[in-house]
Amino acid sequence: MSIVSFERRGRVGLILVNNPPVNAISHAVRAGIVECLERASSDDGAHVLVLAATGRTFMAGADITEFGKPPKAPHFADVIAALEASDKPMIAAIHGSALGGGLELALACHYRIARADAVLGLPEVNLGIIPGAEGTQRLPRLAGLETALQMITSGKPIPAAKALEAGVLDAVSPVDADLVEAALAYGERLVDEKAQPRRISEMTIPANDAQSALFAEWREKVAKSARGIKAPLRAIDAVEAAATLPFAEGIKREREIFAECAADPQSKAMQHAFFAERKASRLPDVGRDIKPRSFAHIGVVGGGTMGCGIALACAAAGLTITLIEQSDEAADKAKGTVTSILDASHARGRINDAAHQKQKDAITIKTDMAALKDADLIIEAVFENMDVKKSVFRELDRVAKKGAILATNTSYLDVDEIAASTSRPADVLGLHFFSPAHIMKLLEIVRGRETALDVLATALAFGKAIRKVAVVARVCYGFIGNRMLEGYVREAGLLMLEGAKPEQIDAAIRAFGYPMGPLQVLDLAGLDIGHMLRSQFPADRFDPHAYRVISRLVEQGRKGQKTGAGIYGYEKGNRAPIPDPLTARITREEAEKAGIKQRTITDEEIVERCILPLINEGARILEEGVAVRASDIDVVYLYGYGFPRWRGGPMFYANQLGLKHVRERILHYQAQQGPRWWTPAPLIEKLAKEGKGFDD
Ligand code: 3HC
Ligand code: NAI
Repeated sequence: MSIVSFERRGRVGLILVNNPPVNAISHAVRAGIVECLERASSDDGAHVLVLAATGRTFMAGADITEFGKPPKAPHFADVIAALEASDKPMIAAIHGSALGGGLELALACHYRIARADAVLGLPEVNLGIIPGAEGTQRLPRLAGLETALQMITSGKPIPAAKALEAGVLDAVSPVDADLVEAALAYGERLVDEKAQPRRISEMTIPANDAQSALFAEWREKVAKSARGIKAPLRAIDAVEAAATLPFAEGIKREREIFAECAADPQSKAMQHAFFAERKASRLPDVGRDIKPRSFAHIGVVGGGTMGCGIALACAAAGLTITLIEQSDEAADKAKGTVTSILDASHARGRINDAAHQKQKDAITIKTDMAALKDADLIIEAVFENMDVKKSVFRELDRVAKKGAILATNTSYLDVDEIAASTSRPADVLGLHFFSPAHIMKLLEIVRGRETALDVLATALAFGKAIRKVAVVARVCYGFIGNRMLEGYVREAGLLMLEGAKPEQIDAAIRAFGYPMGPLQVLDLAGLDIGHMLRSQFPADRFDPHAYRVISRLVEQGRKGQKTGAGIYGYEKGNRAPIPDPLTARITREEAEKAGIKQRTITDEEIVERCILPLINEGARILEEGVAVRASDIDVVYLYGYGFPRWRGGPMFYANQLGLKHVRERILHYQAQQGPRWWTPAPLIEKLAKEGKGFDD
């Protein structure tokens, strides 16, 4: 089948785009549409035209792989102009998602029909750009400024029903009906009604005194929610142009803003993130020929913070879960946790009545491990202690059926050692979720020495089924994410001793783009967790000074937000951190004991001291083969640790800085701090010398 085809059906002409998997609007698609439009316009039997697509979705946008390459005619604007100029009424027929350029083509058509389960959106801001094919000019004309601002600045698609209500769609067809047939029937109706082309570019937005206040209000709102990403604010400029300029000038303005955003490093970083996320699920030795095992019935051992979250994530994906706790009391507590989270989500309208009931029913809580005998995949989430984990795995080995996959949610412990406590190490791996597990997108899949390939394939399929972004890591202390985190947290601790106030450290990291600073995160997660963990490893693994303050705080019962005080103080019922004189006193005392002279520290030093160790450890992780590719490390940091998306992840950011510069700065801190933590990884030495980046 050709990429774009034309045929006449009755009195209606059908232009069909067929560019799997998502009908991205590549050069071939653009050329094909223009060519088919010419054929359609000279076909006297076709009085109305339908533009539709085959496969799983309508067009999902411009072909992102063509970004940055020299543009080739026909350009997007040519296709849009040809569609809108058609003398014959044009109908766009939408199924799946009409996104970005896909929706913009639909807006250039004169009428729009969609299947009831379709979504429509302009997600360009997620790629650091704004809609560049006149979407910022047509959408507000059709749907009004509020709807357009909401859709364009958030990038979030809206469902068909809402699009119909907003006037973006003219008709919706039932999910079980054939959309193309429905669109053809709609076309026949338009022929009967002698309908004329209805061009959005000819519509006007009525001038209104409240408009400038509306834009000011949106700018204020978006400045807060965009967290450093420029595109959403620039998108407001483009929509404002639609309200204040004639159409021809508005599209010129849109094009200028689009070009500025596309040339900004932020958009390169966000496009990197888009492809990095999709690449991460590909493993060189796990091809499509390796079939995943079944994972319909999930077992979860341990119903604490993580176990409950994991069960909820599985229930939301329609899986059946048996959760095991160690006593009736603990089982009741887990049931309470699961129920209250589902009830809150129902009350907020995130899930409907049916889903609420279904997800509650999907989770059964028991106290006898024998209840796991039919489970396909069992995820252990008990205390972070090797002896406890081993005893659970010995028991699982006894009760689990043959071929069941046994996974551990350990954060740091040796997955191979856990696997060795069973008679089936090939069926064992790590599935490391992030807290809260039903919300956080990241899943680190930890591949043991003996993990079978079909077990890995199952883990990847499971990750996709529960809508996580999965990254595969090899076994090492802390895997990818937590191993790198150690340097980041260590430096935050040392910076405190050296004289930076906690609030300065956190503010500097927030200004870099993180939603929270490292010390705020420690208070949120609980200072005792790291403290307990460090006690399980030889002390010489860690910096002798970095955790002095934290240890003193924990000894005093200050474990963070959960105890009402940690590094910061907290008012009852309020999570806002308040600088605490007691922490300041303890810090001064510990600095003195450690012989560290306090000084004034710049924000620039704070950022470098915290971020360079991430990059340096990332390089080691890459050269040891713990991560398959640099972009996988970026995905871990973007989805698990709040690294700013517009910086693309630590490894992409390092490439942007240049590895020669990274090496020089690490050596600068080596001179200040000594070589133990500040020696460039061999891979950085090598790539810096060769003038290359991590992705080379
Ligand atoms: N261009 C090129 N490739 C694309 C693409 C695009 N716009 N959208 C998706 N793909 C590729 C993916 O990279 C993936 O490739 P792979 O199989 O080789 O990894 C494949 O299509 C399938 O994608 P997903 O795995 O994401 O499939 P899903 O079914 O999970 O999701 C989707 C489908 C919702 C359409 C999702 O792919 C998506 O959100 N795509 C991006 C949509 C987007 O951002 N559009 C705007 C583009 S910018 C634009 O249009 C500019 C215009 O204003 C001028
Ligand atoms: P938690 O202390 O909240 O929960 C552990 C639960 O396991 C308790 O409810 C306990 O009763 C239960 N349990 C202990 N032994 C059991 C047994 N033999 N059978 C059945 N249940 C048993 O701990 P949390 O935070 O949920 O952590 C669990 C695991 O997840 C740990 O390995 C931890 O390192 C890991 N993890 C924790 C994260 C977090 O942010 N809390 C993030 C990622 C991983």
